[in-house]
Amino acid sequence: MISLDKLVAYAKATGYIYQGSELYGGLANTWDYGPLGSLLKNNIKKAWLQKFHDESRYNVMLDSSILMNSQVWVASGHVGGFSDPLTECKNCHTRHRADKLIKSHNYEVNPDEFSKEELEGYLSEHQVKCPNCQKSDWTDIRYFNLMFKTNQGVIESSSNTVYLRPETAQGIFINFKNIQRTTRKKLPFGVCQIGKSFRNEITPGNFIFRTREFEQMELEFFCKPGTELEWFDYWRTYCKSFLINLGLDEENLTLHDHSLKELSHYSNATTDILYRFPWGFDELWGIASRTNFDLNAHQNESKENLTYLDPDTNERYLPYVVEPSVGVERLLMAFLTQSYVEETLEDGSIREVLKLHPYLAPYKVAILPLVKNRHQAFAYELLDQVQKFTSATYDETQNIGKRYRRQDSIGTPFCVTVDDETLENQTVTIRHRDTMNQERILISDLKQYILDRTTI
Ligand code: GAP
Repeated sequence: MISLDKLVAYAKATGYIYQGSELYGGLANTWDYGPLGSLLKNNIKKAWLQKFHDESRYNVMLDSSILMNSQVWVASGHVGGFSDPLTECKNCHTRHRADKLIKSHNYEVNPDEFSKEELEGYLSEHQVKCPNCQKSDWTDIRYFNLMFKTNQGVIESSSNTVYLRPETAQGIFINFKNIQRTTRKKLPFGVCQIGKSFRNEITPGNFIFRTREFEQMELEFFCKPGTELEWFDYWRTYCKSFLINLGLDEENLTLHDHSLKELSHYSNATTDILYRFPWGFDELWGIASRTNFDLNAHQNESKENLTYLDPDTNERYLPYVVEPSVGVERLLMAFLTQSYVEETLEDGSIREVLKLHPYLAPYKVAILPLVKNRHQAFAYELLDQVQKFTSATYDETQNIGKRYRRQDSIGTPFCVTVDDETLENQTVTIRHRDTMNQERILISDLKQYILDRTTI
């Protein structure tokens, strides 16, 4: 598997991901998605929308504001409780989240529910080591709220404080009534949302794995109390299949079911889908059965009745919620890590290939004129045609072998070469990224050929 350093260098060299604000010396832990990275991100979101929305009879969409009334965050518990316990190594002075240190020491423990004293006690009793210098000598814990705070309007005062949302989920909960009323959906139904979230993380890092600005794809699935564990199993299996279907190797995935000790106070079942990142297994996707905790909190804070009238039984109740929540960038990192391979060819040379699922590939097709002067005009016309049904790129520089290699290294599954035969009989050569096999097909068959091989 590709190392983290190599992945960063590869992503920069190819135009997948650049350092944020590089021109001005960078801004730590920010990343800009280049021509390829932005297409890949978009394809990941399209795949999620297709599977969680378009192909679901239950789910609808929402696009709520990033800025919300501050009471939302009071109700959700983020104003009071969304803070990280920070400790510093007395030996090397690096700062760490105490809960993360404990989790990496023993994944079975749930430090989220620990008091300050319990966290400090655990670190010293179990001699939890600093990942940087391997010593175990920690300062007292201080808490930092993770929400980015700003002011709405020109005057800075506590009455116009607004927060950048730390998750998209709350926008869904506060619109539950609106959505149910306007869609007239009966339970069970779900609401999907994709959007930016912001957390002033104390220990961002591992490239794009943990950043302060990131994008989430969240589904809040509302169901009748008592049915939530069935739906929890359903979505847990669904999420795992989604990942495998898009090319993640089952061996690189683990389901971590939270034990009773680990569960958050509002959850009666939680599973983390872990992926084998370059540093080991780590959280990719969280799936939580959140009971009616959030709707209940918003009902109490807003004093609005958020109950659902069950048309079958005439009962009123607050629906229970199952929430699969995943970060776009984490998924992107998993796909890049999984797909990057270096193959040694028969002549001893190394071929760099990005074996992305064709659906995810930034460009599905590269149009290559065999001889620039003779085939360029036709190749451009073909490019125009192909771009009407899929994303395509064009390359006429250097010999054809080098051009194939360039496309291999960025993950383009099909290279279409225009040559003399093309001009004579309207056929093209298709060269496959993974096998390097070539075949000739009629241009009139090209569209269907590509569409058939780039779906999920
Ligand atoms: N609404 C539930 C929620 O936000 P979470 O476990 O805090 O739960 C869900 O986040 C997912 O969002 C994570 O599994 C991860 O994929 C992604 N995520 C969370 N914090 C992130 C960060 N700082 N950078 C990148 N992705 C993050």
